Amino acid sequence: MSRKLQPLDASTNRRSLMRKGVAVGAGTIGVGLLSNSLVFAAGNNSTKATKGDVAILRYLAAIEIIESDLWQQYNELGGIQDKEVPGGSGNALYTTAIQVLDSDMSQYIHDNTEDEISHHTFLNAYLTSKGFSPVNLDQFRTLPSSKASGAQQIGRLTNLMQLTVDTSWWTRYRSRTKNPDFGDTFPQAIPGLSKGKFPAIPRNDGDLTPHNHIQAIANTAGFHFGFIEQGGTSLYPQLAQRVTSPEVLRIVLSIGPTETMHFQTWSDKAGNAPPLTDPTNGLVFPDLNASPFGGEDFQTNLIMPEPTIFLSRGLPVVSIIRPTQTKGAALATLNAFIADGLFIGQTPQFFAALRDLADQADKAQHGS
Ligand SMILES: [Fe+2]
Repeated sequence: MSRKLQPLDASTNRRSLMRKGVAVGAGTIGVGLLSNSLVFAAGNNSTKATKGDVAILRYLAAIEIIESDLWQQYNELGGIQDKEVPGGSGNALYTTAIQVLDSDMSQYIHDNTEDEISHHTFLNAYLTSKGFSPVNLDQFRTLPSSKASGAQQIGRLTNLMQLTVDTSWWTRYRSRTKNPDFGDTFPQAIPGLSKGKFPAIPRNDGDLTPHNHIQAIANTAGFHFGFIEQGGTSLYPQLAQRVTSPEVLRIVLSIGPTETMHFQTWSDKAGNAPPLTDPTNGLVFPDLNASPFGGEDFQTNLIMPEPTIFLSRGLPVVSIIRPTQTKGAALATLNAFIADGLFIGQTPQFFAALRDLADQADKAQHGS
């Protein structure tokens, strides 16, 4: 930890780290050596921030880069291709299947993608403006693209073709009596998706038929959208509790709710996924409004959080984001993404780099 005494630019740091065979997020070592209390110049004002604040921003930048990578893949095949989100050329059959969930799905996919790109671009630019290295994961863009018509053939950070999607967010936000911060667990909306490995984008043009197969892929995407964005919905309030600088808190509190806007949109659209069985692999999307599902925990027109227990069972139920418990939140989010299958095929160096960023963020404490 004595190699770098001050923040260096990302490329210098990366070269140095790669020479030594240590793959960590660029700038981590430099940041780790800085004193606890730093003065950030902010226009005519100054605002004190800590190395914990920097660690939180760097971890969030990494998560946003990862989100951008996966959303980009969705947009290339099912979104709108334009100068705001360039790269793909669209896949008509996948797009048609996605639009069964809502005729505006392509617009929403595009806008979610643009939002995530703006998040990591801003976070990295802010870090740079304060003298810290931006997070750069380019060396890990090694995973293959979909071979389906419409996708770019470039290296990716994430894998959308072998997902195991935790769909318990669906019932978690509909429960009036349980909260994950109390240790409660929640049933899966789509039990089949939580086991096995399923594509959320067509792997190649062979996945475009039969009809119920490509629709199952689109349905998987619909529930995966909700999984990803509920993660961001919790992550920002979880980490905000350990931020020190008012300006960094303002950043976290201003970006976080946009993740929630995404989440509610996807929560609504997932409910429109048509019930079906994929004839190629047996994956079942049940009718969530029918027995043995149905009722408050499953009904598809509930798109706002049901009030539930919070802080103490003795207090009234309240409509809240959940979970928001802060301890270990960065690593928990990373582990949820790993369990999702998002990084299948990634290198040990990638996991080490992400765990390091998460560990640093989880060491951050408010006021220190
Ligand atoms: Fe984001």
